[in-house]
Amino acid sequence: MPPLSAAQAAHSAALRARIGDELRRGGGWLSFEEYLQLALYAPGLGYYSAGAQKFGAAGDFTTAPELSALFGHCVARQCAPLLRSLGADADVLELGAGSGRLAATVLMHLAELQALPRRYLILEVSAELRERQRALLAQLPDELRARVQWLDALPVEPLRGVVLANEVADALPFRRFECNEQGLYELGVTAGAQGALQWSPRAADDWLQQEYRRINADLPTALEPYYASELCPLLNGWIASLASVLQAGMVLLFDYGFGRAEYYHPDRRQGTLRCHYRHRAHEDPFLHPGLQDITAWVDFTRVAEAASDASLEISGYCTQAAFLLGAGIEAELAGATDPVQRARLASEARRLLMPGEMGESFKVMALTRQWSQPLAGFAVQDLRRLL
Ligand SMILES: C[S@@+](CC[C@H](N)C(=O)[O-])C[C@H]1O[C@@H](n2cnc3c(N)ncnc32)[C@H](O)[C@@H]1O
Repeated sequence: MPPLSAAQAAHSAALRARIGDELRRGGGWLSFEEYLQLALYAPGLGYYSAGAQKFGAAGDFTTAPELSALFGHCVARQCAPLLRSLGADADVLELGAGSGRLAATVLMHLAELQALPRRYLILEVSAELRERQRALLAQLPDELRARVQWLDALPVEPLRGVVLANEVADALPFRRFECNEQGLYELGVTAGAQGALQWSPRAADDWLQQEYRRINADLPTALEPYYASELCPLLNGWIASLASVLQAGMVLLFDYGFGRAEYYHPDRRQGTLRCHYRHRAHEDPFLHPGLQDITAWVDFTRVAEAASDASLEISGYCTQAAFLLGAGIEAELAGATDPVQRARLASEARRLLMPGEMGESFKVMALTRQWSQPLAGFAVQDLRRLL
């Protein structure tokens, strides 16, 4: 791992002290979900709340909108017919807009497609990222910039249009469990003798026991002893809250994940937890708190269950590659006339589409309400049977 600067070491130490305070308040133990809430979102100190670069080559990881404008162009192509059809009061709401790159690209392409929304709303939990989004989106032409508004909470009035979230579900704090011959344990966090943070199992509470039984009942093979994995209780409430504001239109979710049987596959014995620091992926969530991203893959069956409970239609589920092909990435590539630009876009498209890159591990899910027209992005592949 690259060495820390003095400022980084001080930042991580300050967050570690804050976690120590919470550990003392919690009697020496925190659930992993509570730990993540601090490590990622403690005001001014958590990874997303503080000043780390995060995205792109100089950061810790690269997301699809940061990698290529092709991604945002395809998202815009998928949204355009819906926005046009819903009329003059159709809005876009983006959750967790990161650097603001997707918002900028989508707005510019929607303008070209003559399908601009009335407003482009952004709900971002990180104050630091909100400032970055403001700086980036200030560079848009006036006619587009005027449509962007930041929200502190989901809108109160019903929304007609599109809700977008790229790599937000994987950033929600999650719980971790392990089963053994004695039963089911929740893997939480404690401080060891030298003060180092470490895993600490505790008998699972009723909620976790019940969820574990429910997951197991869905699987072709029951989970075996010493199988460890994650589950994200916040996902249900998050989907329900999005459903509660959507009057008509579509929620479009992009993230790495699987349907349940693949998520809790017998081969994935240590779950899906991953940490990202300066483009190195590893599995130690206690390394440099506040300086690295900590994430788990998304159980898209849980997303679909929460969506059905909230009366949303599961209108599409496929790989990112299939979505981009269906939404028109080839037409976008063909539109590039300059040979240098064309070569660059072709190389970016490969990273978005190839199975070993983002093409297969990333999935796209469309959840709709009062919208029954076909969605081009889901015409190439239908993986809903895997949910
Ligand atoms: C992995 S980053 C993805 C950023 C961006 N969407 C992209 O693709 O580059 C996760 C983003 O979600 C935000 N976030 C996390 N939880 C959120 C929530 N409950 N509501 C809104 N944003 C959230 C984070 O602050 C961050 O901007």
